Amino acid sequence: MSTVLLATSSLAFEQRTRRALGSTNGDLSRYDSEVMYLDALAAAKDMASRNPHVILIGPNVAVDAALGVAQALDEEHPEIEVVLIADPTPDLWQAALRSGVRDVLTPEAGDDEIRQVIDRVTEAAQRRLHNLVADSGVDTKKAKVICVVAPKGGTGKTAFTTNLSVALAALAEDKVALIDLDLQFGDVQSGLGLEPEHTIGDLAKVQGGVTATALKVFMTPRGDKLHVLCAPDTPAEGEEVRDITVEKVLRLLKDDFSHIVVDTSAGLTEATLAAMEYATDFVFMCDLSVSSLQSLRKVIDAIDMLGFDQPRRHFVVNRSDAKVGITPAEAAELVGLEIDVEVPYSRAVALSMNHGQPVVEAAPKSPAARSYVSAAQLFLPEPERPAKRSFFFRR
Ligand SMILES: Nc1ncnc2c1ncn2[C@@H]1O[C@H](COP(=O)(O)OP(=O)(O)O)[C@@H](O)[C@H]1O
Ligand SMILES: [Mg+2]
Repeated sequence: MSTVLLATSSLAFEQRTRRALGSTNGDLSRYDSEVMYLDALAAAKDMASRNPHVILIGPNVAVDAALGVAQALDEEHPEIEVVLIADPTPDLWQAALRSGVRDVLTPEAGDDEIRQVIDRVTEAAQRRLHNLVADSGVDTKKAKVICVVAPKGGTGKTAFTTNLSVALAALAEDKVALIDLDLQFGDVQSGLGLEPEHTIGDLAKVQGGVTATALKVFMTPRGDKLHVLCAPDTPAEGEEVRDITVEKVLRLLKDDFSHIVVDTSAGLTEATLAAMEYATDFVFMCDLSVSSLQSLRKVIDAIDMLGFDQPRRHFVVNRSDAKVGITPAEAAELVGLEIDVEVPYSRAVALSMNHGQPVVEAAPKSPAARSYVSAAQLFLPEPERPAKRSFFFRR
């Protein structure tokens, strides 16, 4: 059990926290001192001298004062976990993270939420203490990280990732994340009809440790099950996103989502390679043009050379019914992979993308939609696969 210090004047919140901690509530004490407003460093020292594992600051503490104390604690006592109790807006999150706050909890949080957040930060602290990195190979939920790669733009990656994600969100038991790593010209958001408040560009600007909860603030929900981390608003912002951000995002999401679909830009960029390090599955895509096929072969050779031999490899041929002198069978031979899914040409695909609603929802009976659903089934355990194709993607 962790020792918790609650810096607030709110007796009601103290009561709730006591209930949250249950029978071991002897480990909770309240700190209510003007020093917090007068001298952040002195307050931090005073609090730390009581040897808490976790300090909850607020409610009823002015945000500036709370952040000042949090920052002082972060600098002087990084071993103590600080949770801010305040209205968790995205702006507050950004400021809180810069001050080394581990988590933000709304003042209205119930017993369960309070206990969960204390457990979570305590666990994180223990992990750090034991110097265990989160990607130690122990992956409780066995999240599938599906990285979709094609050598050329216009191949149909985004059509594929948006439809795949929506289909997975409808069919899988757990939540699905979609990350747009086409950092300069990503268009997942328009394909899914989203208006993101925040993007991976904003996330890249946040200094320090990003927590899973913070990360979700930067994602845009679409329905209950799908959460999307959209691409930056401008190419310049895209330039600022480093591989470290991509790694952080994937490490955190793996704990919370059963499927993480990664859309990429053409070829192998720094961001794509960073994502590939975490991938459990690669989806290679091309259409039936000689140049697309040859380029894909080169991409696969490069991936082989880099030693990515763990992830499962899948091969999707888009516009597979185009009569352009190469058959899918010949494509498979040229690329050296068996085809898992063929997506036929369908005007409905382009139309639906333009309307911000993927074809699995807009025209679920179309052959293209069925192909995307069969692609989703590659990533589902047997029992979750529907006995027959069902068309319940309409929103
Ligand atoms: N199977 C398909 N049938 C018809 N149009 C398609 C198909 N796949 C993709 N498209 C269209 O082709 C264009 C490029 O596809 P997109 O998914 O954006 O490619 P990428 O993300 O690889 O650059 C889009 O306008 C998209 O709607
Ligand atoms: Mg794209």
